[in-house]
Amino acid sequence: MTAPLPIDPAEIAAAVVVLRRGGLVAFPTETVYGLGADASSDRAVRRIYAVKGRPIGHPVIVHLADAATALDPAQGWCTDALPAAARALAEACWPGPLTVLVPRGPRVADVVTGGRPTVGLRVPDQPVAHALLSAFGGGIAAPSANHFGKVSPTTAAHVRSDLGAAVELVLDGGPCAVGLESTIVDCTVDPPVVLRHGGVTIERLRDVLGPMVAEPSGPSRAPGMLPSHYAPVCAIEVVASATIAAQRVGVLRAEGIAVDVLDPRCSADDWARHLYGWLRDADDRGLAVLVVVPPEPVGLGAAVVERIEKAAAPRPLGARSVP
Ligand code: TXA
Ligand code: MG
Repeated sequence: MTAPLPIDPAEIAAAVVVLRRGGLVAFPTETVYGLGADASSDRAVRRIYAVKGRPIGHPVIVHLADAATALDPAQGWCTDALPAAARALAEACWPGPLTVLVPRGPRVADVVTGGRPTVGLRVPDQPVAHALLSAFGGGIAAPSANHFGKVSPTTAAHVRSDLGAAVELVLDGGPCAVGLESTIVDCTVDPPVVLRHGGVTIERLRDVLGPMVAEPSGPSRAPGMLPSHYAPVCAIEVVASATIAAQRVGVLRAEGIAVDVLDPRCSADDWARHLYGWLRDADDRGLAVLVVVPPEPVGLGAAVVERIEKAAAPRPLGARSVP
């Protein structure tokens, strides 16, 4: 794995200035790059929605430097009605790729939660993110730093190519170590429900909370978790085996369609780390179709499969360049 780039204190200081005056800073986390704004400023967070093209009402996660700050009701990010499951998960998994939904505290700007009584809190495990959050002191609201519905960025170059001059500052922490988003657990219901598979596996959640953790199911999913998401421009077709993939490629090539197969046969961790880069490469190569043989949905493979299914889901008319 590539070591994270060294931290430049002058850049961190500059980023804090941008955040304090209501601007946007893109920053690395261990999952994907985030597009950050001061989580206590309605005006600053509204800029995130504008730059991403994200509909208002899709809630944003608040990032904090450490669990003590995130889960102390006196700090204002949660309330004293903090669910025991949230505290147990935070102790076991933070810093790390886990977001817990808890009752929302008074420091969280309205627009962050889309008016909901809950807020998603996360303490990322990435040195640049930690330096930024510690120096800023407050919460940083950040969705993934890409246009709404598109593939999340896992390098600073991805952020620059997606959002360009719309972001004042992009902090470069090198490639993201996990490579796909945090696991989201709604701790305000009993038993807690996983709203999105991600960097912390369901197996790990069950180690901490017991077997009662509920897996995602259609209607209970988080707002913003649309059927089509994480989508490159090219069409994604999911098949069960290399043999079927080869047949499908034969058919499509005979029709003159630019197609290739994604079947890396690597570990689930490597799938997670590289998936978004591979989807971007497919677009850069001008493919019309990418035929994907997914990994087993075990461990991080469950999150990988969820992303692949969303990338393959039907999209609104005109959103893809399929034949
Ligand atoms: O790994 C990650 O979680 C990355 C990095 C930057 O931390 N962030 C990220 O944010 O993936 P975003 O906005 O792309 O996805 C966050 C999802 C939203 O789509 C929404 O479904 C859910 O989290 N969410 C956040 N706050 C919520 C709330 N109060 N209630 C329900 N769902 C919420
Ligand atoms: Mg996103």
